[in-house]
Amino acid sequence: MEILHVSAECYPVAKAGGLGDVAGALPLYLNQAGHSARLVMPMYRTKFLYTHQWEVAHKGYANLGNRWFEFTVIREADRSLGFDLYLLDINGLLDREKIYGYDDDTERFVAFQVAVLEWVNAWEQKPDLIHVHDHHTALIPFMAANCYKYAALRSLPTVLTIHNAEYQGWMGWDKSIYIPEWDTWHWGKLDWNNCINPLASGIKCASAVTTVSPNYLQELKYKSNGLEALFEYEKGKCTGILNGIDSHIWDPRTDPFVPYHYGVEDVEAGKAKNKMAMCDRFDLDFEKPLIAFIGRLVGEKGADLLPQAIAESFRYIGRRMSFIILGSGNAGVENALQRLTDQSNSDYNVYIGYDEGLSHQIYAGADFLLMPSRVEPCGLNQLYSMRYGTVPMVRRTGGLKDTVIDYGDENGYGICFEHAATGDICHAIWRAAELYRDKKKMLSIRKHMMQLDFDWKTSVKKYIELYKRVAAG
Ligand code: ADP
Ligand code: GLC
Repeated sequence: MEILHVSAECYPVAKAGGLGDVAGALPLYLNQAGHSARLVMPMYRTKFLYTHQWEVAHKGYANLGNRWFEFTVIREADRSLGFDLYLLDINGLLDREKIYGYDDDTERFVAFQVAVLEWVNAWEQKPDLIHVHDHHTALIPFMAANCYKYAALRSLPTVLTIHNAEYQGWMGWDKSIYIPEWDTWHWGKLDWNNCINPLASGIKCASAVTTVSPNYLQELKYKSNGLEALFEYEKGKCTGILNGIDSHIWDPRTDPFVPYHYGVEDVEAGKAKNKMAMCDRFDLDFEKPLIAFIGRLVGEKGADLLPQAIAESFRYIGRRMSFIILGSGNAGVENALQRLTDQSNSDYNVYIGYDEGLSHQIYAGADFLLMPSRVEPCGLNQLYSMRYGTVPMVRRTGGLKDTVIDYGDENGYGICFEHAATGDICHAIWRAAELYRDKKKMLSIRKHMMQLDFDWKTSVKKYIELYKRVAAG
């Protein structure tokens, strides 16, 4: 099948979180399974753009309300990602340093989607299916089916994957002029609570909807930032497909970011060397169990709970473990985490910022990875940590519940807790410190986790089945 993915992120071109990882892996694995999957994303000013060769694939123009704009689609000449990668440039709108976070993000992403449809409309041979990801691309199913000028795309099947339903891309009805002329009789397909809600529109209009884990789909029916009734109503077209990991990139035997490579057979020695490097760099005591947190410092990830949970665990459990935090986000949380370094006794450190290489080194060097998420549609960190022999400590929510079994349960390997609350986190930290003392158990858990299969190969089969179903109507 010919599948076109449309995404705001794609690793290694531009990544803010897990969406980038998924968009960089799914088309590759679809190609490896014998299909032809390509991906188009905005052309940001990233290092990847300047260090790769490009050829022009298409030039066109379109309107965003009253604003006329030109766009160019370029294709990566060497196909270095293992699939055709297209960047769409709109001068002045998309060519920015960051992916998100501008006042005109609405205009940027609507213009991107309009331009994508203009481009596809011009293809002689249309793709069999368009697969869009999250709210930044979720107006495409509506526009393809309802805009007069895209009549040739009307029957094109579309799949929407929801990576995170917390963000929905809400915009006022005054912005409806951005959408190329459409039959206003169908306004209800854009509307949710008197706003244009791109995510809700995508759920209503896509041929099929997927979430990035089965459990998250269940949760969305009673907790989805206002879309509960919609998920209940549309449940017939929704499927939960667990994300995979790109095991070419995330492999401790070969990972170029990791200083000391290791596999299942030498995990203990390999991790010890990486931990030592980590402890040297961040002034941490090698003897203590090293608990890490990697991620966006936002409420969804429970990051605001970390400063208090760490301080309390030192107070009540004792200074028996050390912590390393990598992340950026909420300024208040960043400051609180920075302040904790004043009290460090070679047992706490933090790196505020985004550093891809350091994240890999932490997965390899840490003993435990803490994820006290309030919302976690899938979560990739726990999958990476397991592949690197690092025990995940997770709140039982979303994809974390689907992927981590508590070591106290049959065949278990992780540490699970119920609530995103400091008490539960401290208890999990205490359990980690206790588990760490049992070297034999730790080793067998590390080996067990490293052999678990979360490869994309398995998940990609489910997407292919879905595509076939959708394409067959
Ligand atoms: P989300 O997409 O909600 O942020 P995921 O667990 O799906 O959560 O994916 C997060 C991805 O982003 C992982 O690849 C993780 O290693 C990476 N990541 C998050 N924060 C940072 C950071 N500060 N530096 C480097 N990598 C990070
Ligand atoms: C989102 C979710 C995360 C998921 C990722 C990739 O950003 O927050 O849980 O793993 O998308 O699907």
